[in-house]
Amino acid sequence: MCGIVGAVAQRDVSPVLLEGLKRLEYRGYDSAGLAVLNHDKQLQRIRVQGKVNELKQEHQASPLKGGTGIAHTRWATHGKPNLNNAHPHICRDTVALVHNGIIENHEQLRTEQIASGFEFTSETDTEVVVHAVYEALQSTPDLLQAVFTTIKQLKGAYALGVINNAEPDRLIAAREGSPLVIGVGIGEYFIASDVFALLPVTQRFIFLEDGDVADITRDKLTIYDSNQNIVERSISVSELNADVADKAGYRHYMLKEIFSQPNAIAESLVNRTNDGQVVSNEFGQDAESIFQQVKAVKIAACGTSYHAGLIAAHWLEEIAQVPCQVEIASEYRYRKSVIVDNTLFVSISQSGETADTLAALQLAKKSGFLSTLAICNVAESSLTREAELVFLTHAGPEIGVASTKAFTTQLVGLFLLVVAIAKHNGLSNEEEASFVKQLESLPGRVNQLLQFKDDIETMAKDFADKHHALFLGRGSFLPVAMEGALKLKEISYIHAEAYAAGELKHGPLALVDDDMPVVAVAPNNHLLEKLKSNLQEVQARGGKLYLFADKASEVESTEGVYVLKINAVCDFMAPILYTIPLQLLAYYVAVIKGADIDQPRNLAKSVTVE
Ligand code: M6R
Repeated sequence: MCGIVGAVAQRDVSPVLLEGLKRLEYRGYDSAGLAVLNHDKQLQRIRVQGKVNELKQEHQASPLKGGTGIAHTRWATHGKPNLNNAHPHICRDTVALVHNGIIENHEQLRTEQIASGFEFTSETDTEVVVHAVYEALQSTPDLLQAVFTTIKQLKGAYALGVINNAEPDRLIAAREGSPLVIGVGIGEYFIASDVFALLPVTQRFIFLEDGDVADITRDKLTIYDSNQNIVERSISVSELNADVADKAGYRHYMLKEIFSQPNAIAESLVNRTNDGQVVSNEFGQDAESIFQQVKAVKIAACGTSYHAGLIAAHWLEEIAQVPCQVEIASEYRYRKSVIVDNTLFVSISQSGETADTLAALQLAKKSGFLSTLAICNVAESSLTREAELVFLTHAGPEIGVASTKAFTTQLVGLFLLVVAIAKHNGLSNEEEASFVKQLESLPGRVNQLLQFKDDIETMAKDFADKHHALFLGRGSFLPVAMEGALKLKEISYIHAEAYAAGELKHGPLALVDDDMPVVAVAPNNHLLEKLKSNLQEVQARGGKLYLFADKASEVESTEGVYVLKINAVCDFMAPILYTIPLQLLAYYVAVIKGADIDQPRNLAKSVTVE
């Protein structure tokens, strides 16, 4: 989703802005641009409909020089991805602005501004903001005051970076509902949508809060809260290295991230278990006393994180015997729901910036839950700052849009949560120790599964010319099938749907023919025989089956049935493990199709608008 970078420095800021945009590419975008105030106080701008590399080329041909600038990658919401709609937007050669978020009352503001004589050059919701700042500057020469006046008129979500040619060493940043971070340099300041953009120039960051406005010059930073009072926001020192976004020799970030799962899982377990026990305090200081009181759990998340929640619901009900409801965050936030006493609210998000998940958490905080917990991969994200309890998955930054290691580490975090709650609901010490042992065996087992890469690459050839695929699972493996289908559709653009295998004959069976590959996850559990019957139904209709099955499940490859056999594993760990081959399948199909794997079309890594 849109990325913002800005800088006020003594040096020429264009290289910092361009490198920042490059590092924000993973968020997803369709156009890019930058505006710099040159030494003659003139605003210069370059925009492209396309990639940051094209912007760099244009910049190389006619470089922009100056110490104050803003830059942007745009993920189209209002208006097509074209040059006119690309940011920065400029009003009357005076004010330039970049925006992430959605201005909900833009139509009304546009009508008023057109009546006042402003000309619009784009279809964006953003352009009203730059005109509003210009208009406010007609009553005050002060950019900060003009931004204060402007944001009072705005409804919706925004992160803004604004510069004005009358005050060439000044940058105003504002945040409401969309992420924005300030990078603290020596005699220079930066802004960006996330810390990755700025790691080459600083390790020190201030995370703005909703309602904050920052007045930034080269040597002074003043932050105002939503009441326009000056506030102190603490500086955090990031432990991330600038080269964190390196592909480490892999062809794509996604492949690197799939292969880093043994390590990501191991990291996510460090200090989380001790002597065969789950360390509840890793969820927060009050976690233990909260977990004692939990009588129900409500989970809200989006996409892959939602699938993690669905798997956790099975664990919670089976292991902890606690009822659990899982909701798509964008649905939950707009519906009236009944909250059972002592319900723990759990939000799951890789990025911690997903607008719907964040809104669901904010709603939950006002709704009388026992407590709120965020399971997240990004420390200092909006979600982790909002929740009362936090569990950080230590997966390391995930760059590929398709979530892989974030998912498996979320599952690890959720399993720890289930055990921590189950301890207060009859789980014995021996059972807990046995679960901890199973968790600790995961990195090695994931590694074994990664060795199937060549088999799966071969299997992928059968999918590349197909337009549809069906994924089947039962019980906690239905969400695994859903995750496999989501991975395939998002990176290979093959339409894929997941079904509970028992639902097949209630409709989707009509679709099965030799042109529709059917993928099934078949662990050796109490549902295996049922699943086998469902698979017979597919075979009988000429459907080609791809089975990921337990070695002990006695299913063999035959004509039209391709079986990949997986070592026996405890049924509770199996959803984590069976996900790995499905990730590899989606990846290799997308490779064969020549798709843009790390930045699939139309998608964004961090979905900061609803
Ligand atoms: O950052 P989040 O986990 O909150 O993101 C939620 C979804 O946008 C995300 O999981 C999305 O579905 C992935 N691209 C799937 O691979």
